[in-house]
Amino acid sequence: MNVLVVGGAGYIGSHCVRQALAAGHAVAVLDNLSYGHAESVPAGVPLFSADMGDQAAVRAALRSHRTDLVIDFAALTNVGESVQQPERYHDNNVVRTVGLLQAMLAEGVKKLVFSSTCATYGIPEKMPMTEDLPQKPINPYGVTKLVTEHRLTELAGTHGLSFAAFRYFNAAGASSDGAIGEDHAPETHLIPLAIAAALGRRPPLKVFGTDYPTPDGTCLRDYVHVDDLSRAHLDVIPLLNQPGQAFFYNLGTGTPYSVKDVIASVGRVLGRPVPHQFAERREGDPPALYADASKVRRELGWIPRYDTLDSIVLTACNWHLARPKGFAT
Ligand SMILES: NC(=O)c1ccc[n+]([C@@H]2O[C@H](COP(=O)([O-])OP(=O)(O)OC[C@H]3O[C@@H](n4cnc5c(N)ncnc54)[C@H](O)[C@@H]3O)[C@@H](O)[C@H]2O)c1
Repeated sequence: MNVLVVGGAGYIGSHCVRQALAAGHAVAVLDNLSYGHAESVPAGVPLFSADMGDQAAVRAALRSHRTDLVIDFAALTNVGESVQQPERYHDNNVVRTVGLLQAMLAEGVKKLVFSSTCATYGIPEKMPMTEDLPQKPINPYGVTKLVTEHRLTELAGTHGLSFAAFRYFNAAGASSDGAIGEDHAPETHLIPLAIAAALGRRPPLKVFGTDYPTPDGTCLRDYVHVDDLSRAHLDVIPLLNQPGQAFFYNLGTGTPYSVKDVIASVGRVLGRPVPHQFAERREGDPPALYADASKVRRELGWIPRYDTLDSIVLTACNWHLARPKGFAT
């Protein structure tokens, strides 16, 4: 298929681009490069440097690539920042995404795979998390994704849009060949922060909260390798053949790991300890977030190939060791 990957110069998008190429799709990328890296887009893949809210530019890109399907990763993703700047998050993640959808419909492109998040659930009522849990996001970032999910559902009914929305847990790791990996500025994710602390590139890691009702007192999260996560976006494509289909999947491995588990794993893989210090809990951090991944496993046959924390951390360490300054080097 001819696939346009919006946000394809970002962390997850760039991994998906490579997987889509390997699967035989014709791929182009549209990204405003606000956070993405042009260097992460493989040679030969057209890069439309444009904002997804720019109707004319998006329509031109859709046409010139003769697009069959859009995979949309474009968003602002920093939860803390969304609390400080809710309007900016609403504008980018909702208004501009709606602009992208309008451009798609105007060009007759009615298949979409969308990046949503487990943050749409807020503080879940039960664990592991199934797709039918109430969605009550507790920060503006989660709200923007939930509002967009609702808009997609409306468009499935009114315009025959067929879409799958994946609610990711914690994307982690890097490509197995070390060519691309996570390069966020500022970095807020635990595994790259732990690696940077171990390598002396950052101050000691802060562990927020040691008195949670979890086995070791630190928060539990579900880390899913970025290549496994990306692959699900391609696995779902055959389901989008009928118009007006709407699919929602939690995308995590279902295995929870604590902050202390991550510190131990990075220490094992790098062969040096992660300097860290304990701090008070952060407001809004649920004690545990991990997926019941049975729906995506059952319906898409999706099985994570990276099934241990160490295997995920190893790819991240290789990337950070090889590229101390990320794409800047
Ligand atoms: N990283 C995670 O653990 C995680 C977890 C849950 C959900 N998600 C979602 O997955 C998606 C990708 O996350 P990521 O970690 O790769 O983020 P990222 O910041 O690395 O990638 C996002 C990309 O979108 C681009 N972009 C942003 N706004 C745009 C716009 N208006 N027009 C065009 N391009 C725009 C950025 O330049 C960037 O390249 C996001 O939608 C995010 O909300 C990520």
